[in-house]
Amino acid sequence: MVVGGTAGIGEYTARKLVERTTPSKLIVSGRNTEAGELITNDLNKVGNTNSHEFIQVDISSMKKIHSYAEQLKTKIQKLNYLVISAGYFSMNGRDESDEGIDKKMAAHYYGRFKLIQELMPLLEEAANAGEDARVMSVYSAGFEGDFYKDDLDLKKGFSLKRAADVCITYNSLMVEELAERHPKIGFIHIYPGGVNTSLGRDLPFWARWPMQIFGTLFATQADDCGDVMTYALTDDSFKTGWHLLNSKAERIAKPKYNTPENRELIYNHSVELTTIKAQ
Ligand SMILES: NC(=O)c1ccc[n+]([C@@H]2O[C@H](COP(=O)([O-])OP(=O)(O)OC[C@H]3O[C@@H](n4cnc5c(N)ncnc54)[C@H](OP(=O)(O)O)[C@@H]3O)[C@@H](O)[C@H]2O)c1
Repeated sequence: MVVGGTAGIGEYTARKLVERTTPSKLIVSGRNTEAGELITNDLNKVGNTNSHEFIQVDISSMKKIHSYAEQLKTKIQKLNYLVISAGYFSMNGRDESDEGIDKKMAAHYYGRFKLIQELMPLLEEAANAGEDARVMSVYSAGFEGDFYKDDLDLKKGFSLKRAADVCITYNSLMVEELAERHPKIGFIHIYPGGVNTSLGRDLPFWARWPMQIFGTLFATQADDCGDVMTYALTDDSFKTGWHLLNSKAERIAKPKYNTPENRELIYNHSVELTTIKAQ
């Protein structure tokens, strides 16, 4: 399953996974139904099958993630690989959902945490059957930054830099904590490097064109990045445990933030914030 699979790194990871591993079923998810259906049509042609499928989800909404997971549980009994590559680049300030979570922070962390929790029974089912069960969060391992113990979700002091810093740190804490709690499952947080994708499509023109020039001239192409992501997801060295990887899928040093106290703090905070409150 690739969430954030309707474009960019997620799309090319889905394409490479089908080419390389011929899965019996691959689910592509994101908000854009048209793009998702075009991609799954292509994937079905490659595999000469009808089983690959698009299912819509917006991971900025905890309620929608829950309904999505419930829908999935009626379609599949177990899940081997979960890739989360949802995200976007914007220069807008805090944009809270009706659940009180900044939508960008949800795409980059809180929605990812919620999605993994909701899909854990399906991953456990695969692991208990002796099969691969792995989760890969595509974001920015290696670029962790400070977080604020009295303002963990930045309700009081939001800035784009802080949001990026804390979401990266939380992803790295999450993979370690979840690996401890689920020893038969592998958890990866990976930095894809500078990749030529549509990531900056919501930026104003003056900010978008330098990114496009950089992307065309210097960045890795999404197709090549898809190869690295597929390797990281399926290689035996990442079968269980937690792994922070760079753009070549090499291990990077443990961040100073990854302490047992911080893991517990952020885990409990994430459960609290992503639990759907009764109206
Ligand atoms: N490209 C880079 O150089 C680079 C560098 C470092 C880190 N990253 C990280 O890598 C991830 C993927 O980036 P990319 O370059 O592939 O970007 P992209 O081409 O813009 O693709 C992002 C994907 O995320 C989906 N998405 C966005 N918001 C979503 C939401 N609320 N719910 C569900 N899906 C959502 C988009 O689909 P829909 O519009 O259909 O929802 C799309 O499929 C991001 O987290 C990004 O921060 C990228």
